[in-house]
Amino acid sequence: MPGDLDEAHALHRAVLAEGTAFITTVEELDALGGVAYRRLVFEEIRRTAGAAMWVARHGGRLVGWLSVRPGPLAQMRHCGKIEVMVAADARGRGVGTALLAACVAWAEQEPSLTKLGLAVFDDNQRALGLYRRFGFVQEGHRPDEYRSADGRYRGDYLMGRRV
Ligand SMILES: CC(C)(COP(=O)(O)OP(=O)(O)OC[C@H]1O[C@@H](n2cnc3c(N)ncnc32)[C@H](O)[C@@H]1OP(=O)(O)O)[C@@H](O)C(=O)NCCC(=O)NCCS
Repeated sequence: MPGDLDEAHALHRAVLAEGTAFITTVEELDALGGVAYRRLVFEEIRRTAGAAMWVARHGGRLVGWLSVRPGPLAQMRHCGKIEVMVAADARGRGVGTALLAACVAWAEQEPSLTKLGLAVFDDNQRALGLYRRFGFVQEGHRPDEYRSADGRYRGDYLMGRRV
């Protein structure tokens, strides 16, 4: 739906403003071009094999979205990279589970994909629990991979799952 992208973008900004789960800042997202950038990404998703996006709505409001996009190079096209977020006041109620279930079921049928992958901060326990429940396994740990503006270091796990 046309309104989905506006709401998905607003949710992305709100989640980035929390400053906990993603490395991108709101300013960095805005610098990419706002909703116009979101539309470009969505058009790319529409024309790319192995790419898709789901939104979750509750009471008419968009409360979550998930995108899966393979890498741009030929040797990356079998692996769909997942990005997922749920509105702060809608977490812990199964929205992320529903989005990931839809993605995994779709990916199992998608001929161009043989793997799903993602990166997640090593202290994001809720997200780690969600991914593990869906069979994602830890493939790597990168301690101190990121340094936030306050000087704090954070690491991430690379996780993957065959489809
Ligand atoms: C991580 C995230 C996507 C998970 O989505 P979510 O909707 O909160 O996840 P779910 O509700 O499906 O599952 C989370 C918890 O709710 C529980 N749950 C699932 N379905 C439930 C239901 N129907 N009723 C009650 N609880 C439920 C799960 O057992 C799980 O428990 P946990 O907190 O011990 O892990 C979401 O919390 C989020 O957007 N966080 C901020 C952004 C982020 O971290 N994105 C991922 C970056 S890699």
